Amino acid sequence: MEDPVIENLKTICLCKNIKKGTILNAIHGGYHTVEAVNRKLGTGSGDCKGERCGPKIKEMIESLLDIAL
Ligand code: FES
Repeated sequence: MEDPVIENLKTICLCKNIKKGTILNAIHGGYHTVEAVNRKLGTGSGDCKGERCGPKIKEMIESLLDIAL
């Protein structure tokens, strides 16, 4: 199993250098859609416009909340 500390340091939004742990905190803090996380953290506002990080954030929300978006 991966070390959760290392796991949280993984960069999810490469354009904006935003880490997994930061995104998890936002989801835990009540930001439950990709758009809400993007507005809160600035993910999705880089050069790729969220093409790379958007699907990963969606997956994280779905698995954390056990829902399908
Ligand atoms: S990886 Fe997040 S905006 Fe490009």
